[in-house]
Amino acid sequence: MDGTLGISEVDQKEFDALIADALTGLTAPQKSLSPKWLYDHHGSALFEQITNLPEYYPTRTEAGILRNHAAALSGLVPHDGALVELGSGASIKTRTLLDVGSHFGTYVPIDISRDFLMQTADDLQNRYPALKIAPLVADFSAPVTMPDPLAQIPKVGFFPGSTIGNLTPERAKALLAGVRAWDGITAFIVGMDMVKDTKELVAAYDDAQGVTAKFIKNILVRLNREAGANFDTEAFRYQASWDSELARIDMHLVSAHDQHIRLAGHTIAFQAEEAIHISAARKYTPESVRELAQSTGWDVAIRYTDADARFSVVVLTPCM
Ligand code: SAH
Ligand code: AVI
Repeated sequence: MDGTLGISEVDQKEFDALIADALTGLTAPQKSLSPKWLYDHHGSALFEQITNLPEYYPTRTEAGILRNHAAALSGLVPHDGALVELGSGASIKTRTLLDVGSHFGTYVPIDISRDFLMQTADDLQNRYPALKIAPLVADFSAPVTMPDPLAQIPKVGFFPGSTIGNLTPERAKALLAGVRAWDGITAFIVGMDMVKDTKELVAAYDDAQGVTAKFIKNILVRLNREAGANFDTEAFRYQASWDSELARIDMHLVSAHDQHIRLAGHTIAFQAEEAIHISAARKYTPESVRELAQSTGWDVAIRYTDADARFSVVVLTPCM
């Protein structure tokens, strides 16, 4: 396996970034934490549990669309070219494309969750021995540059899961424009979840078993372990709500009472009912999909959807 980044050099940087981000976010008037910190090894495993919850329709809906259009989608990848996936996680849905993509030269899973990515890459290499698997640890909220020789290979980008919806509109635009600028890019396949009934949306982010609450609270567990913080996870409750104006689900952790938290030598005060914004999941309409694409140099070549139009797998091609 090749294409991996030097790992130890990333470690210290990641630690510094976690502390700096947490302090900036938790001392702002509206407290927030970046959702990218949800994904340590345990967080990635919890997200995989979410994908199997009865309320969480996006994964199984998108998987159905990918299965129905696997030949057309994998056919977008040039012969001996690369499929480059952003936020690959366990790469489960990707297997639908790899199974019919015998002409692919390389699969590049990109993820911030390093151990989980490496374990997934090993599993995939065993499953697809003829395919070059080149995992890349990177943060897609900054420009992702492809190392040589991947930079030169003709490639198709893949960003499933509606993970694009977890980015701010500005970051989503920057990411789309960044991928558009990759050498040899011929298409970008993006999974986008659609606006729908509010009850169904809220249930998908507030499941009866409380797995999503556990996933979101894991960010505090991570801060305790990695940044020496002293959050009592029982003193925060999880809350998911729909913002119809911004077309997004907001995920908050709400302080149960007045409390003080220690983090990296700082004391952070919480009032009762004060919320930390952890993540947003934007939902799209056919119009907002088109607007986003057009503002970043892409045409919507085709938008595949399921029978109930709950989710879209969008094929973007470079706008000439
Ligand atoms: N593609 C999979 C997993 C989606 S979960 C699916 O559709 O089911 C989102 C994935 O994106 C996680 O694996 C997480 O580790 C990764 N991720 C989240 N923020 C990231 C960032 N800023 N940079 C790189 N990867 C990120
Ligand atoms: C990864 N991402 C698309 C998920 C979502 O649906 O926004 C993350 C998630 N957060 C809570 N549940 C799922």
